[in-house]
Amino acid sequence: MPTEALRTNPLREGLTSRTMPDPCTLVIFGATGDLTHRKLIPALYNLAADGALPPAISVVGFARRDKTDEVFRTELEAAARKFSRQSLNDELWKSFASCVSYHRSEFDKFEGYQDLARKLDELDAARGTCGNRLFYLAASPDQFEVILENLRKSGLNKAREGSWARVIVEKPFGTDLPSARGLNDLVQNAFDESQTYRIDHYLGKETAQNIMVLRFANSIFEAMWNSRYIDHVQITASEPLGVEGRAGYYDKSGALRDMVQNHLLQLLCLTAMEPPAGLDADSIRDEKVKVLRSLRPLTGDDVFKHVIRGQYSAGAINGKRVAAYRDELNVDPGSTTETYVALEVNVDNWRWAGVPFFIRVGKRLPKSGTEIAIHFKSVPPVLFKATGESIDDNVLVIRIQPDEGISLRMSAKMPGSSLRIEPVKMDFHYGTSFGKATPEAYERLLLDAMSGDPTLFARRDEVEEAWKFVDAIHAAWATRSDDLAFYSSGSWGPGEADELITRHASTWRRL
Ligand code: BG6
Repeated sequence: MPTEALRTNPLREGLTSRTMPDPCTLVIFGATGDLTHRKLIPALYNLAADGALPPAISVVGFARRDKTDEVFRTELEAAARKFSRQSLNDELWKSFASCVSYHRSEFDKFEGYQDLARKLDELDAARGTCGNRLFYLAASPDQFEVILENLRKSGLNKAREGSWARVIVEKPFGTDLPSARGLNDLVQNAFDESQTYRIDHYLGKETAQNIMVLRFANSIFEAMWNSRYIDHVQITASEPLGVEGRAGYYDKSGALRDMVQNHLLQLLCLTAMEPPAGLDADSIRDEKVKVLRSLRPLTGDDVFKHVIRGQYSAGAINGKRVAAYRDELNVDPGSTTETYVALEVNVDNWRWAGVPFFIRVGKRLPKSGTEIAIHFKSVPPVLFKATGESIDDNVLVIRIQPDEGISLRMSAKMPGSSLRIEPVKMDFHYGTSFGKATPEAYERLLLDAMSGDPTLFARRDEVEEAWKFVDAIHAAWATRSDDLAFYSSGSWGPGEADELITRHASTWRRL
């Protein structure tokens, strides 16, 4: 049992400090998949390395392929070596790996769950995991129903006296409002809302969590955080990557479902919400839901005025030729799936009346970067007018990733005898200011689920409201496809998206 190696840190820090999570067993459904290898195991290893895991923990991988514990651990080690944020320490890995075991079963075979229940009892007795169970649905979403049903039938969904049972549901959480409602109902046949943790990994990013601190722990920003001072907001998520072997999923999804419905609307909510009554999960989620309910619906012809969809054609990324989306493996050669979307969104409430939020997200763009840029209104064009100097507006940029930080653009006088006004930047970088590496989103989220803190997970109503907004856009798109604009890989997206923001007398920020 690796408890001593793992137990060094009695407290951890988050939005609130709390004691270390309870001992527990994490059962990962879909344990041989990409998510487990790339994200979950590296996250668990890093938590172990930071001494943040509970004093007793077991990890059980549940999947269909036949393999021994040893083979499973060896595969996970290779993945952890490749994807872990911190390089692997052999001793610590050995200690961590001794908590990990493999459980082979079909997802639809009830006996597999009965065996699992027996195994979990044995683990509780051997490792002191106290009957606390965290089930992680990392399998393909078409397996969720049978997994949830079998967890219910086998009684694994019910916590025993003095212990807990929770479920983490990976995205995509449905493909539209009816399917999301259906999935919510399925989950809730087996687990209460209080046991349910819907992952949106953007909420686990350190910089996303900092939005609330920036806004509500600094008096200078919140006073100006409204339509009186803010001209517009730009939210960008840009990726040079293409569809990367995920065409089976992506070609049915597209950028709007894949990124906007969840991650980008969550960033918008954190930027636009009112101060919550407290830091508890429901106070924060209540405020985010109010923002989603205030989104001006985009329907019918308005969709074609305010939403631009694009798809990448062939081009070059970092000097390397890359294929068009339609030529990617497993993509329908006539696909009209959008790999880029730009939207002008309005939050129809008192604070944001008349302030557009421009959102853009795309694959095969020149640079990787996610940021929120708050563009303040111009100063009155009086005092410096006669000098002929143009004055750039103030822009506050929250860099979600990479190079996490915050910068503020201001105007300053250039040294010299004449009056020259130039933009300058005040810049805060997490790395240099705090001198420690930013944890991965999955580290934070796994720890929160083990601690029973749902703040950084989406609540049922949030997910459903976001789908309502996105479904209306899809309904309009379903009526025609001649608006799909093509952009070369390695460019900043279709020219139509530039026109969208030029109408507001602005331009997209260059990352
Ligand atoms: C996922 C999307 O949710 O987020 C991917 O399915 C996308 O298409 C990814 O690439 C981006 O996440 P991150 O953390 O790399 O910005």
